[in-house]
Amino acid sequence: MPDGIPFNELGAQRRYLGHAIDQAIRNVLDHGMYVMGPEVAQLEQELAAFCGAKHAISCGNGTDALTLVLMAKKVKAGDAVFCPAFTFAATAEAVAGLGATPVFVDICEDSFNLDIRSLRCSITMVKESGLKPVGIVAVDLFGQPADYDDIEAVAAREGLWLICDAAQAFGASYKGRQIGTIGLATTTSFFPNKPLGCYGDGGAVFTSNAELADSILSLRVHGQGKDKFDNVQIGMNSRLDTLQAAVLLEKLKIFPVEITARRRIASRYHERLGDVVTVPYILAGATSVWAQYTLRLPRCDRELFQRYLTTAGITTAVYYPRPLHRQPAYSHFPTAPTGLSVSDRLATEVVSLPMHAYLTEEVQDRISVAVRKASSAAQR
Ligand SMILES: Cc1ncc(COP(=O)(O)O)c(C=O)c1O
Repeated sequence: MPDGIPFNELGAQRRYLGHAIDQAIRNVLDHGMYVMGPEVAQLEQELAAFCGAKHAISCGNGTDALTLVLMAKKVKAGDAVFCPAFTFAATAEAVAGLGATPVFVDICEDSFNLDIRSLRCSITMVKESGLKPVGIVAVDLFGQPADYDDIEAVAAREGLWLICDAAQAFGASYKGRQIGTIGLATTTSFFPNKPLGCYGDGGAVFTSNAELADSILSLRVHGQGKDKFDNVQIGMNSRLDTLQAAVLLEKLKIFPVEITARRRIASRYHERLGDVVTVPYILAGATSVWAQYTLRLPRCDRELFQRYLTTAGITTAVYYPRPLHRQPAYSHFPTAPTGLSVSDRLATEVVSLPMHAYLTEEVQDRISVAVRKASSAAQR
């Protein structure tokens, strides 16, 4: 059997950036400001400049980033927040963790993102239910922005705020607007396997709303006021470690080149696989950072398909095998009145292929050949 092909290969980037990152970490060890050291403020400035948001506020992880925005909006029991059913648990967890009600909305089968018709009828349902609709958390799944023109129009008409959960999509754009500048706020994650990942947990909130930014700055440090012994609101402890900021500053320097590489790899997959499996679709005017390259296999036995690739030494992954409304912790929350049939179906059809900026053409070609064979072997 040829050498195994991992799903993601953080080691390749580590080898490429090795010396620069070692030096950045050494600098932090030398100055010793492990919490809120100078690298944190520098990173926040560079992240804001990168996407064009007025404020970038770093924090402990992408889940906290969502929680901080929801806390700043004073989300509480009785409030309903609309989010897709087909996403990572953190999207709904942040809402439910504050005692509010996530309302699960269906997604579009081509983009994997919020379906506007399902959103509209879910809002109508909630208005009649006694819960108070307050906001929408849209997700930019697999690196591609949701269809924000429609979502923003609905949010404006209904008086709802919009948070963009761009844990997987920092660096992407929507019709000329950079992710980080849409909605009331955008959140992201720097979990290691994200397109821009650190060496542990990390996250950030982006907003152009100064009042919201001030509140989040306070909330991430125990709700502090003029200093750390002045507590003006109930907050949390969610700061990005200086060491992670130092790592991210180095990675941010090469991020644009890595995004270009991911896009090149995605188009090569499209060319090689588009006639045998359903390859991902990108909205007109949007760009993806390809956090995942996710196929749909409507006519295949997915288990057989994955087994075939495993035997060929190729690691694949399923994001997500179970939508949130099917999870024990979330199954009691309201769902779109027209159902979540697309979320349910996609959970059985999707599979993601190895995708990272350091995937060589030779390895990618090996994967593509094996995927073609696997799809024919697993035809139903
Ligand atoms: C869509 C989405 N939202 C939120 C998160 C949470 O980010 P973190 O793991 O940094 O808390 C993730 C992480 O995978 C995610 O994919």
